Amino acid sequence: MLKQKSKILFSRAQRHIPGGVNSPVRAFRSVGGEPRFIRSGKGSHVTDVDGRHYIDYLGSWGPLILGHCPAKVQSALRAQLALGTSFGASTENEVVLAEMIAGAIPSIEKVRLVNSGTEATMSAIRLARAFTGRNKIIKFDGCYHGHVDSLLVKAGSGVATLGLPDSAGVQPQECSSTFSIPYNDADTVQRALELNRSEIAAVIVEPVAGSAGVLVPPVGYLERLRAITEKHGILLIFDEVITGFGRLGKPFGWQRLGVVPDLVTTAKGINSGTVPMGAVFARAGLYEAFMQGPQQGIEFAHGYTYSAHPLACAASLATLDVYRDEGLLERVTALEKHWEDALHSLKGVGAVMDVRNIGLMGAVELEPRAGAPGARGFDTHVKTFFEEDVLIRFTGDILAMSPPLIVSTSQIDEIVERLRRVLERIE
Ligand SMILES: Cc1ncc(COP(=O)(O)O)c(C=O)c1O
Repeated sequence: MLKQKSKILFSRAQRHIPGGVNSPVRAFRSVGGEPRFIRSGKGSHVTDVDGRHYIDYLGSWGPLILGHCPAKVQSALRAQLALGTSFGASTENEVVLAEMIAGAIPSIEKVRLVNSGTEATMSAIRLARAFTGRNKIIKFDGCYHGHVDSLLVKAGSGVATLGLPDSAGVQPQECSSTFSIPYNDADTVQRALELNRSEIAAVIVEPVAGSAGVLVPPVGYLERLRAITEKHGILLIFDEVITGFGRLGKPFGWQRLGVVPDLVTTAKGINSGTVPMGAVFARAGLYEAFMQGPQQGIEFAHGYTYSAHPLACAASLATLDVYRDEGLLERVTALEKHWEDALHSLKGVGAVMDVRNIGLMGAVELEPRAGAPGARGFDTHVKTFFEEDVLIRFTGDILAMSPPLIVSTSQIDEIVERLRRVLERIE
């Protein structure tokens, strides 16, 4: 057992880790027991430094679509080690990857490669602002877009500065150019766009809100957002950092849900979480708008040192090969019913209030304890890790899962049984 104390401020490794393979955004002050440090992973399992095995049903909240350490991706990474980052010069892999992605997705014309979901959001917002010449961005409560959220939207930022009555009584925030509107409230979006059309650049939404606990959009909701934004000439951005790359059984969520956005952000599954990478996709017409300046001018001066890092591109190409060779999209479609039935068998167990699923995402919502919201979810999460050796995610009283797309039906049954045992004994 690793005992020494780290001096790193709020590091991952310093924490006790139920679900803490990658948890810089968790409160671990009250977690008891010995810290457990993860050393290795293979497929749907990880192993700690003492050799104890865990089922990983969090998959680092989505990226590990091929599970841990996929062999083909590992060998592609080894073969690519000869080159560091290539800022200022494109690599062949980068171009092949961009063409492969854009060519495979109807309506998507151009791709910009970045290093994370947060950067993809930043890039999409900057593109939308540059394209429209407007500044304001509308997002939704509960939709998470990376740390852009904490920089641009202050907690509880109201909609009063959009000229709308602020029913929650929250004061308008100074300096904020991003406004949060209740999820699924298309009427408020419509009024906000009508009142502020000349100032709003884009509406950004997760087509399925992942971090808020797998909120599936009501039938017709995304269509309505599309119609409203189109009517007012405002861009619609889909954040597909979780739903992209097959989690809903199609390459992207918008293809499953049938609504075409103007910009799509993605990350995680793009190379199965092996090397940090993200991307922004743009529909036809956006790119051309940036190509009108003088020859020597930079078209869109915005980038990162490690954008399209050779390792990330190699990992992504290998990941896409596995998708094709192993028919992963078809696999998700074939597994979805089994996943749904297994999760829904938890209805009525202990404090379970609601069960939601789409593709290979799922959430189990617990009734909060009186006066202690989040406590039951936290306890369940801790017990699931320490007593049943399973990694899942919790958001308040919601337990969320995003298994690798290579998961088997027997593994699905096993995780649900282990979760059931915890739910039956949690107070
Ligand atoms: C929907 C969504 N968007 C953006 C992000 C941010 O991505 P990253 O952590 O790669 O910056 C996340 C992270 O979980 C996410 O779930």
